[in-house]
Amino acid sequence: MTIHQTSGLDGVAAAVTALSHVDGEAGELVIAGSRVGDLASTTSFEGVVARLWSAAGAEERTESETRALLAQARMRAFERLESILPATDGLSIVDAFRAAVAAIGPWDGIPPEAMSVGAMPVLAAALVRRAAGKPAVAPDAKLGHAADTLRMLRGKPASEAEAKALGAYLVTVSDHGMNASTFAARVVASTQADLFMAVTAAYCALSGPLHGGAPGPVLDMLDSIGTSANIAPWVDAALARGERLMGFGHRIYKVRDPRADVLKGAVDSLGAGQTDLGFMAEVEIYAREALAKAKPGRRLDTNVEFYTAILLDALKIPRNAFTPIFAVGRSVGWTAHAIEQQRTGRLLRPTSVYAGTMPV
Ligand code: ACO
Repeated sequence: MTIHQTSGLDGVAAAVTALSHVDGEAGELVIAGSRVGDLASTTSFEGVVARLWSAAGAEERTESETRALLAQARMRAFERLESILPATDGLSIVDAFRAAVAAIGPWDGIPPEAMSVGAMPVLAAALVRRAAGKPAVAPDAKLGHAADTLRMLRGKPASEAEAKALGAYLVTVSDHGMNASTFAARVVASTQADLFMAVTAAYCALSGPLHGGAPGPVLDMLDSIGTSANIAPWVDAALARGERLMGFGHRIYKVRDPRADVLKGAVDSLGAGQTDLGFMAEVEIYAREALAKAKPGRRLDTNVEFYTAILLDALKIPRNAFTPIFAVGRSVGWTAHAIEQQRTGRLLRPTSVYAGTMPV
């Protein structure tokens, strides 16, 4: 293994987990025992949350118990908004969300994993609305997590199809092996710091453009390309300048990310007219071909962020809120991994290769 690979911990197994498995050669993702496509089409977000927490060793709960618990956590988080929001003054939504997530802590009677996950959409929606000069909308405990997320964002109920599409997205991104943000969560949890600390660290790791910060820039790229005629010249020029095409490439997947198709299906389910899927597909096809020519042997293919961007845009979620919305789904994985790490793991403490001078 070269130093370049070592510096990115390529191929290093940092945990034994019962939560999810990524097979980058087969293009397969298994979450809590099911393929991601099957899970997204058959199971609600709350059902997946129950399965992941149970697989991590947390208390066993049914899907409906989990739904009630998350609803209760959303209500409690909303009660805290008044004290949290002023600390986010002047920050972008991505930065404000970091400050808001850091302000969430224990609440009597609500397990920390539920408080963390339940708070996410309340904070994201309140910050989006605040940025638009609108008041926060209180959660509706009767709704599922996905439907309530859209309702709190918009101030009015979403259609069933939209809630289903967001639910499929949240399930699809709920967990994904030892990605950078999950690793960050496990490192913090391995010190026996609490779950809220682990989740805050994980969100910080998620925010970068090489991880969960990519979907906003994917839309910027699609906007900048603009027309079918401009695809080839735009992509060729970007690659010639040495730029990275957002939404392509992955450390583990060497074939198409299986989540891309699940999310493309979710965009389709919203019906014609929501978005120009034909144009997006043209960009995807050309970008894959151009990457194969520009980086032969690298096997760069479409990743989850390409269709995440298109789906969240079709759901009318502002692009500066895409990373917090990613956290609404991925926080389930973070909490499950933190619980599993504390139950079964040891302090994570790797070594480094010293390249400085030695004293004489
Ligand atoms: N566009 C152009 N070139 C690329 C891209 C891309 N999207 N991705 C990788 N490459 C090139 C690199 O420039 C490098 O080329 P070189 O060896 O000639 O210098 C080579 O492929 C390998 O790149 P690494 O950075 O070593 O690969 P790594 O495994 O670290 O990168 C990553 C994975 C960060 C996702 C990368 O593919 C990337 O930057 N993609 C664009 C951003 C993106 O889509 N991020 C979302 C990822 S999905 C997620 O985290 C949820």
